[in-house]
Amino acid sequence: MPLLIRNADIITADSRQHGDIYVEDETITRIGRNLDAPPGTEVIDASGKLVFPGFIDPHVHIYLPFMATFAKDTHETGSIVALIGGTTTFIEMCCPSRLDDALEGYHLWKSKAEGHSACDYSFHMAVTKFEEQTEAQLREIVKDGIASFKIFLAYKNFFGVDDAEMYSTLQLARKLGVIVTAHCENAELVARLQERLLAEGKTGPEWHEPSRPEGVEAEGTNRFAVFLETLGTAGYVVHLSCAKALERAVAAKSRGVRLWVETVLPHLMLDKSYAERPGVEGMKHVMSPPLRDPANHKVLWDALQTGAIDTVATDHCPFDTSQKLLGRESFTQIPNGIPGIEERVNLLYTYGVKRGRLDLHRFVDAASTRAAKLFGLFPRKGAIAIGSDADLVIYDPDYRGVISAAAQHSNCDYNGFEGMEIEGRPSIVTVRGRIQVRDGKFVGERGRGHLLKREPMYF
Ligand code: URP
Ligand code: ZN
Ligand code: ZN
Repeated sequence: MPLLIRNADIITADSRQHGDIYVEDETITRIGRNLDAPPGTEVIDASGKLVFPGFIDPHVHIYLPFMATFAKDTHETGSIVALIGGTTTFIEMCCPSRLDDALEGYHLWKSKAEGHSACDYSFHMAVTKFEEQTEAQLREIVKDGIASFKIFLAYKNFFGVDDAEMYSTLQLARKLGVIVTAHCENAELVARLQERLLAEGKTGPEWHEPSRPEGVEAEGTNRFAVFLETLGTAGYVVHLSCAKALERAVAAKSRGVRLWVETVLPHLMLDKSYAERPGVEGMKHVMSPPLRDPANHKVLWDALQTGAIDTVATDHCPFDTSQKLLGRESFTQIPNGIPGIEERVNLLYTYGVKRGRLDLHRFVDAASTRAAKLFGLFPRKGAIAIGSDADLVIYDPDYRGVISAAAQHSNCDYNGFEGMEIEGRPSIVTVRGRIQVRDGKFVGERGRGHLLKREPMYF
């Protein structure tokens, strides 16, 4: 059924316009004033609301075998949670381990999502080893519409690659025009520091951060940047957490390295004192890179506003209390990760836009448009324009609420942002013209999501 959104305050990454949006056959076909509504059109009055392009989360984990367990969401729950939070497309990390075959892993991840995701999606293909068959396998995966790889410099012997494997991956990515995303921490230093702390009897979650200090992340960020520079490959640092690592990334950008930077909600909103809480409360806040000294917050927010940090993702990765307790004897066994896909847009709007840290257009850019551009989805996604997919978020800036595990939709029994107030939430969320969410409730079509074909960007 066609859809007409009347009286829209249309906000994109670079414009603001009042008018109506007409949607038919999944796309936006008209934008203007006083558009007519043919019989059978559903009409929505957006007076008093803001209308944004559907938000894009460029870093989530839905299916994830990791640290002796599995992340808790499925593509059914994870996509519904995303949509309730205003995210209409996510890019999931497809992460077979070093023991797995990459191509089999890719098909497994695809089968988990297909017919189950209620929002559109794609994958960053993790390269967790580089063997004889890897190039041919990655070429096949890129032909299937995947335009980005993922490497981990951390997680030694599981996801982590060594420098030789990083080199081969970046070299191939350059040939294929594919951008490489990277988790930047020095795996060897983390392993040695973990060993040392455990030998000193330091086993609680408060030792997670000291086992991966800021310098360890700065080293990984710098090394990744130097490899990109040497090979001329385009790269993207995921979940950057601190000023020291940012300095390295900014220095690389300023010497012309084709490098983009992501931070994630936990690093903007939480600090290491959360992981220092006793027992399982601390474990709930263990992620990597770890939550940092709060002095980093202002640096990250400022960098986000100037664009030195390009995007804000979630790194959504839910493990419940019983899973976190796998690490009761040793912080090295606590499954790393915090959920956040339901909260990202509302927290960024409240603590960024409403608190004056983030310009409204930069908010749209960081949470939608820039990811669409970097990962080969623009202008189909990340835009409100004729011909774009009708992924729209009609946002209610007058809504007031408090985040709580009791009210969340993620398949997890805690919320890392518990008790935080939000000032705004999506009122209506559409995916390709179909209303999927109304006022915090999923009302749409399960399994509607498509795997998006992305074109290599030839940066
Ligand atoms: O702690 C985290 N970030 N867990 C998910 C895996 C990763 O490193 O992104
Ligand atoms: Zn990571
Ligand atoms: Zn991640």
